[in-house]
Amino acid sequence: MAEEKKLFKVKIDNIPVEVEPGTTILNAARMIGGDVVPPAMCYYSKLQGSGGKCRTCLVKVSKGSEADPRPMPKLVASCRTTVMDGMEVANITSPEVLDARKGVVEFLLLNHPLDCPVCDQAGECDLQDLSYEHGVSGTRFEFKRRTFEKEDIGEHIKLHMTRCILCYRCVFTADQLTNNRQHGILGRGDHSEISTYIKASLDQTNFIGNVIDVCPVGALTDRTARFKNRVWFLKPVDALRECHDPNCCGKTVLWMRGDEIFRVTARKDKYGEVEAFICDTCRFEKKEPQDWVIEGPRKVARYSVISQGHYVGVHKPHETVAKVMDGRQPKLLMNIHTVSEVNQPTVDLSKIEGPAHSNDFPKHNGVQ
Ligand code: SF4
Ligand code: SF4
Ligand code: FES
Repeated sequence: MAEEKKLFKVKIDNIPVEVEPGTTILNAARMIGGDVVPPAMCYYSKLQGSGGKCRTCLVKVSKGSEADPRPMPKLVASCRTTVMDGMEVANITSPEVLDARKGVVEFLLLNHPLDCPVCDQAGECDLQDLSYEHGVSGTRFEFKRRTFEKEDIGEHIKLHMTRCILCYRCVFTADQLTNNRQHGILGRGDHSEISTYIKASLDQTNFIGNVIDVCPVGALTDRTARFKNRVWFLKPVDALRECHDPNCCGKTVLWMRGDEIFRVTARKDKYGEVEAFICDTCRFEKKEPQDWVIEGPRKVARYSVISQGHYVGVHKPHETVAKVMDGRQPKLLMNIHTVSEVNQPTVDLSKIEGPAHSNDFPKHNGVQ
């Protein structure tokens, strides 16, 4: 008879849980779920070696174990600290932890730009959510923020290094999902930056697009979707296709408005981690509804504005226009985009000082 595995009894914020030896405090908290789960900006359960960089997951170990009940002298990174039998941990019940997390957020934001209104990650950004919960409205930083030029690293990916928090997730993704990683963290300390050697392109592998999904901020964005729409205006739907790449699961989320597909991403769980990685063909090249079998609305399980963007209780309207117009589709009858040009502003909205208004657009045939 197989010997029964001894489980460790742990308490997190006074909630007991039994876990296997070797489990980290963070994963033990995830087994409880809810508010006791510490935030994690660099740990990613699907990427080996991740974690231990950002310090957002700090917790207090108030009792080390049954055998040695002394508390740990400092706060510890819960993604890298394994549980002991009888351990007691405080997360949201410890004012010390909340204060330290506030400090970590302040550090993460030291050089971060105030880009949220124009950032494609807004609405699904871990840093935005973290700042909302733990940040302060001002900064004590008096020095010039470090800035970088935006870089196209390949045909499909834009790197905006100024927004990077150096979590290393994209580096682990390239290392573990592709067989020729071409980017990494160059430099040390304040000079560290994500970059490619001699501006190499990240196009030579079919899985590199996953760096966009694992990036917790808007540092790596999808060039085929950038600035096309705000994420909260889009409706996520689960879709699948029979992908010819044996390593791709073909199960994705399509971010749609009407029947237009604005972007394709992997499916993410409640911790913002992808359930299974997808290939670049599915992500960047399949943007037509006929490429996909749509399974139904995607429930976004995170505390964020995007979880509001659902198709709820949809009843498809009965289409009558085509019936009375000899089978012609309403879209063909009413599409004015190509003639009016009103929808093609030629000014850069981010360069206008103050709110944009109708006079900022050039005149088109007498129409402003
Ligand atoms: S990365 Fe997140 S916090 Fe930073 S500008 Fe973009 S949305 Fe805002
Ligand atoms: S680019 Fe994104 S994923 Fe890569 S290290 Fe920076 S924040 Fe992390
Ligand atoms: S998630 Fe633990 S240190 Fe970043």
